[in-house]
Amino acid sequence: MDIVVRPTAQAAARAAADKVAEQVADAVARRGQATIAFSGGTTPRLMFGRLATLRLPWQQVHIFQVDERAVPAADPARNWDQLRELTDLVPATNQHPMPVESAHADTEYVHELDVTMGTPPVFDVVHLGLGDDGHTASLAPGEPILDVDYTDVGWVETYRGHRRLSLTIPALSRARAQVWLVYGAEKSEVVADLIDGRTPTPAARVLNRPVASVYLDVAAAPSMSVT
Ligand code: 6PG
Repeated sequence: MDIVVRPTAQAAARAAADKVAEQVADAVARRGQATIAFSGGTTPRLMFGRLATLRLPWQQVHIFQVDERAVPAADPARNWDQLRELTDLVPATNQHPMPVESAHADTEYVHELDVTMGTPPVFDVVHLGLGDDGHTASLAPGEPILDVDYTDVGWVETYRGHRRLSLTIPALSRARAQVWLVYGAEKSEVVADLIDGRTPTPAARVLNRPVASVYLDVAAAPSMSVT
């Protein structure tokens, strides 16, 4: 597992974007396409901005979601809308928003994953954030979805005000690369738990160390030196 600590959130986001870009370019070179799933929240906005400036074979990139809130399309809580500066770069056929308006969104999205990547679907990259309670994606402490090992997509009943659709632990753990981006002092405890691994937070259960790169600012990793 690579742990990269940068002096600022901006520098951490830039390094994470560059890692995503490296993985995307490698995937297209090897397999003719790249598949990436992005998380939502506020943290990744800096990374999206940097990534959108990079010269990549965007025509061969497929953009998926790690999770989405079941709210109307125009609702600012939707994660998909935050990805616009990236989704505008790929063909419409390569844009894969979670169809949260549908009652069968879970099975529909499983099908979309399988059609694009085969079965079981293996993402080239999954981008992951970290919540202050140790959640990642919409996999929150105590949620039944944490024990779902038979499918790649599942519903989460109301968590922090929203019903959500989320990739499951198997789908996230199976990815060829996990790129974690976390910054801010308020995350320092959960970051320590993630790295230490002895506390079975949802994020620690998703973490697949051989393929994980964790990008942090010094505020989120006060006991670690800048790398
Ligand atoms: C979501 C995200 C979620 C996020 C963490 C961190 O839909 O909320 O997918 O898993 O990554 O909650 O959120 P912040 O970046 O806002 O701290």
